[in-house]
Amino acid sequence: MKLYKVQIKVICQDLHEYKPNEFFDIAIFQQSLCHLKNPEEVLDNLYDNVNTLLIVDFIAKKEATNFPNWKLKTRTKKEFMNLIQGAGYKLKSFKKISTPQSIIQSAKFWLENIEKLDPVKVYGHIASLKNLCCFILDRNLEVMYMPWFIGVFYAEKDS
Ligand SMILES: C[S@@+](CC[C@H](N)C(=O)[O-])C[C@H]1O[C@@H](n2cnc3c(N)ncnc32)[C@H](O)[C@@H]1O
Repeated sequence: MKLYKVQIKVICQDLHEYKPNEFFDIAIFQQSLCHLKNPEEVLDNLYDNVNTLLIVDFIAKKEATNFPNWKLKTRTKKEFMNLIQGAGYKLKSFKKISTPQSIIQSAKFWLENIEKLDPVKVYGHIASLKNLCCFILDRNLEVMYMPWFIGVFYAEKDS
């Protein structure tokens, strides 16, 4: 495998306070927009300097839902489309990502590893993940019963 030296500039900042002062071809939100308190504000701040958006996120099958333990909100496809359009971008493509039918294997993996931890360390996000794994395994739950799926939106500036 050939390794290339690529210089990457990392900005460590709350996205709500970030307004780029240089130009970018694309902004990629990889399962991160769902965590933002105000994605409208974030997209507005990007608009002047960002040509295209790629958003990979949880899409609610029926209705938007808040998951406070994960500081996460799922939105419907329509809500994402309104968000993108409202920010001045035009949706060019949408794709549903096919995920494996079974998440049982993943739940087993995480639970097995969480159980190796000192119990005092199992709080917050780790405790939420443990509960989710138990929930999935107790019910033998499959992805098709989940209230969301993963989708990819690609949008360009509407000019
Ligand atoms: C589920 S992780 C996804 C990380 C990465 N994109 C990936 O696919 O592995 C969500 C990320 O969103 C970041 N995030 C959440 N709210 C943010 C905010 N207000 N400003 C900047 N980053 C934020 C978190 O720090 C975290 O790294």
